[in-house]
Amino acid sequence: MSAVESVRWSADGRAVDIIDQRLLPGTLVRRELRSADDVCDAILTLAVRGAPAIGVAGAMGLVVAIAPFVGDDRERFLARVDEIGERIAHVRPTAVNLSWAIGRLRRVARETAGDSRSVLDFLRREATLILDEDRAMCRRIGEHGLSLLGDDARVLTHCNAGALATGGIGTALAPVYLAAELGRRVAVFADETRPLLQGSRLTAWELSQAGIDVTVLADNMAASLMRAGEVDLVIVGADRIAANGDVANKIGTYPLALAARHHGVPFYVAAPWSTFDPATETGHQIVIEHRAADELGRGFESPVSPTGVAVYNPAFDVTPAALVTAFVTDRGILRPPYRFADAGHADGSAG
Ligand code: MRU
Repeated sequence: MSAVESVRWSADGRAVDIIDQRLLPGTLVRRELRSADDVCDAILTLAVRGAPAIGVAGAMGLVVAIAPFVGDDRERFLARVDEIGERIAHVRPTAVNLSWAIGRLRRVARETAGDSRSVLDFLRREATLILDEDRAMCRRIGEHGLSLLGDDARVLTHCNAGALATGGIGTALAPVYLAAELGRRVAVFADETRPLLQGSRLTAWELSQAGIDVTVLADNMAASLMRAGEVDLVIVGADRIAANGDVANKIGTYPLALAARHHGVPFYVAAPWSTFDPATETGHQIVIEHRAADELGRGFESPVSPTGVAVYNPAFDVTPAALVTAFVTDRGILRPPYRFADAGHADGSAG
């Protein structure tokens, strides 16, 4: 079982305490985020990353960032919650969990009676609830997903949708952790996940820490592995799932789904209810984050593309719902036809 706690309150409760994922697998360092600048920078530079984890960190970060303004009159304080919340929510656009978590806190702030101190107390409680709920949702995803893993299952995954990416034991990796906990044998193939290597740096790190069999491969090797009959199933996470079931996830997920379909390998998407976005009709409306050129061209010791050459660096792609065998959620396994139009969010809102 994973012992990784990617996001938590600091001992004094005045900061968000995160594992700095930029430094893994070389060094395990925790960092304390104490201001809106700290929180935005950590999310933007992927010190904290993964859709559920940035939702949790964003919510806790908003609490930390507005705490110094306790003492302001109520209206002024609420305006600051909105202003700082907006800022945090827009750091990364694709994962719905971030704007969802911030939206939830902004609503609670408005609905809480009393002065700025009472509002802050309720916001802290709500952010802690989001963390606790995420932990529980991960576990339930694992319990539902267990039925998909046969004996000696060989699972291929992409990016990192494990403990580092959530408040709990992960989404795609949750069934793997639970299978291991039950003493069942399971082997994971981790796509390295270009350009930032979340698969080889993070997935391989957390699984090996937990003593789970993991093998890293370059992204362009996955189809051959499937063709060789070495993959029983693919499980990936998600950053946003549209009402029609289209899935935004780390760039490289879509070709994986195509290869899986071609080779008859089941392709599962594991996600908590907070990742479903009924307000977005199809994948065409999902905003895909594009990241800095340097991440692709300057990611190694020496440059790997000529200076000044254009770079295409989307962080995510969209996999059409038709390629998804089933969704593994905290509410059970959902198979086609998908109708998430009135699914709502975990707190009953539309985000
Ligand atoms: O850019 P990242 O590292 O935040 O991308 C993360 C992913 O794409 C994950 O697969 C997704 O957020 C699911 S996390 C449980």
